Amino acid sequence: MTETRVRIGVFDSGVGGLSVWKALQKTLPAASFIYVADQAYCPYGNRSQAEIVRRAVTISDFLRRAAADLIVVACNTASAAALDTLRSRWPNFPFVGIEPAVKPAALHSHSGHIAVLATRSTLQAPRFHSLVNRFGRNVTLHRVVGEGLVELIERGELNGPAVRRQLQALLSPLPPTVDQVVLGCTHYPFLQPVLEEMLPDGVTIIDPAPAVARRAKQLLPEIPGPLTPTTTSPWRFLTTGPLPSFRDLLQLLLGDTLAGQAHSVERLNLE
Ligand code: DGL
Repeated sequence: MTETRVRIGVFDSGVGGLSVWKALQKTLPAASFIYVADQAYCPYGNRSQAEIVRRAVTISDFLRRAAADLIVVACNTASAAALDTLRSRWPNFPFVGIEPAVKPAALHSHSGHIAVLATRSTLQAPRFHSLVNRFGRNVTLHRVVGEGLVELIERGELNGPAVRRQLQALLSPLPPTVDQVVLGCTHYPFLQPVLEEMLPDGVTIIDPAPAVARRAKQLLPEIPGPLTPTTTSPWRFLTTGPLPSFRDLLQLLLGDTLAGQAHSVERLNLE
C-alpha cells in the first residue's frame, strides 16, 4: 500500500541512537523511519574528527537519497564533530543534532556539581567547550570519559558484572556532591537501570532524547512538501556491520516496541 508519511532518517555509530529512535517514535507515531547503525565504524568516540565527519556525510547522503525528509544525528560524538559540516553542505535540509544536557543539569543542580558522561571525542570537541562556556559556568563540571561502555552495549551487555565493574571504575572518582549526571552518549540510556542502582539516592540522570524528539516535531512544519510516498516498511533498520548480531540487539533493545509492527532489518554497504 502506498502511504504518505514524513520519513525521518536517524543515524548513530551503532545501536545507541535507538534510545533516541524510541523517543522519536513515541513523539511522532505516524512517521516512517530509516535508522542507520554504522557498526562497521563503531565506536566513533576514539576516531579522528575528520573520519567522523566523513562517515556523517556519507550516511546523510545515503539517507537523503533514500528520501528522508529530516535527519536526526542520534549520536553526540557525530553531532559534535559533524553537524556544522552537514548544515553547511545541505543548508536547506533540516538536521537535528544532540548534545549533552549541560544546561538543564546546571539549572537543576542544588550542589553546583554536575557530571557529564560522554565519549572522549565529545568531551574534547570545540562544540562541547562552547556549550560549557554558555551554560556550565556557574557549576563545577566533572567530565567522565565512558571508556569501554559503548563496546559493552554493542555486545548486548547491559547489566552484567563487566558493566558494573566498568561503571564502578568510572564513577568512583566522582565526589559525593554530584547531584546531576548527564548521559552525553546515546548508548548510555540503555544502562540507566543499572546506573540508578549504583548512583546514590537523589542523583538525577538526564537523557536528552525526549528533548531531541520534541525538536524534530517542531521542525516538521518547515519541511518543504510534498512528501515522498512510501511503499516500503514504515520502520527500516540498517547496519553497515554484521546482520545477525544487529537483529539480536534490536530484539534486546526494542523487543516490545517491535512486536507485531511491520519492520525490516537490512545490511547496508556504505563505503
Ligand atoms: N552513541 C554515540 C554518542 O552519542 C557514539 C559512541 C561511539 O561510537 O563512540 O556519542
